Amino acid sequence: MNVIKVENLSKYFGEVHAVDEVNFSVNKGEIFGFLGPNGAGKTTTFRMMTGVLKPTNGQIKIFEKNVWKDPIPIKQIIGNVPEMANVYPDLTGMQNLTLIGELYGVPKKINKERAEKLLKQFELFEKRNFKTRKYSKGMKQRLLLCMALMNDPIILFLDEPIVGLDVQSAKIIKQLLKEYNQNGTTIFLTTHDMEVANELCDRIAIINKGKIVSLDTPENLKKLFQEFQEIDISFNQDINKEEFEKLSSIKKVQKVKDGFSVIVYEVNLAIIQITDFAKTNKLEIKRLNTHQPRLEEVFLKIIERGS
Ligand SMILES: Nc1ncnc2c1ncn2[C@@H]1O[C@H](COP(=O)(O)OP(=O)(O)OP(=O)(O)O)[C@@H](O)[C@H]1O
Ligand SMILES: [Mg+2]
Repeated sequence: MNVIKVENLSKYFGEVHAVDEVNFSVNKGEIFGFLGPNGAGKTTTFRMMTGVLKPTNGQIKIFEKNVWKDPIPIKQIIGNVPEMANVYPDLTGMQNLTLIGELYGVPKKINKERAEKLLKQFELFEKRNFKTRKYSKGMKQRLLLCMALMNDPIILFLDEPIVGLDVQSAKIIKQLLKEYNQNGTTIFLTTHDMEVANELCDRIAIINKGKIVSLDTPENLKKLFQEFQEIDISFNQDINKEEFEKLSSIKKVQKVKDGFSVIVYEVNLAIIQITDFAKTNKLEIKRLNTHQPRLEEVFLKIIERGS
């Protein structure tokens, strides 16, 4: 079941087609990543989806309701951490949270309990009575997440939630996003960081120059590019490179310092064939390492192909 449906969504700023005829849906209970380089159109899409920026064309439906026709009930059930979000610097961490809770109409007792629970979860409880102008960037970002969770949202929207944070804050945030997701929260996040997308997301849409160029699971995105699968091998003596290259699973063999870098069509079959090749030619394999394609390489390749 999908909870978000984006249809033919476009945003033009004069000549700039920041978002251009974008279509995708987000399933209930998934972490959906919107991945792309700087200026790709992530934030523009995000702002249209969260009811902040009016689309030029197309529509966004959340639980079948059009975000732009009926924004208030939707804003009640989503949590939102925009790209340039800010906490109130003259209020304490606790006050920031209870204020947001009041704005959402959370009953007083629940409001305080929820704020305390979130502060504990995000490891800010000890600093709850400090004014947030004294918070570090990572602490502020954690507090922004707490603020977005004060209305107990069904869907959480995060624009670059981990960019530029200290290791500890990034770790806490990633861990809690996984936990909230396991407990049923659907998450839509944008990122330009491959590793974040790979670690957190069930599915990833890759956006470049306002268009989606690919949409799949991280695993399938990697599989798409089998040609990046490499085997690094060396034998105990010289081999006949031409004969070696004739193996059906091998695409290309390159001589490297003390062995060969082999680009293959299919890793498992290649390993079997290489072992046979070694046996037949009375060779000993000194080293054999497989190299999985890094998502970064896949990403660049998809973008090259899509533009
Ligand atoms: N308010 C605006 N007015 C004019 N152009 C804009 C506006 N907002 C965004 N753009 C342009 O739209 C394009 C997409 O920008 P957007 O902020 O959506 O990218 P992004 O993928 O979020 O990038 P980043 O990774 O840097 O956050 C860019 O070319 C940007 O300059
Ligand atoms: Mg952005």
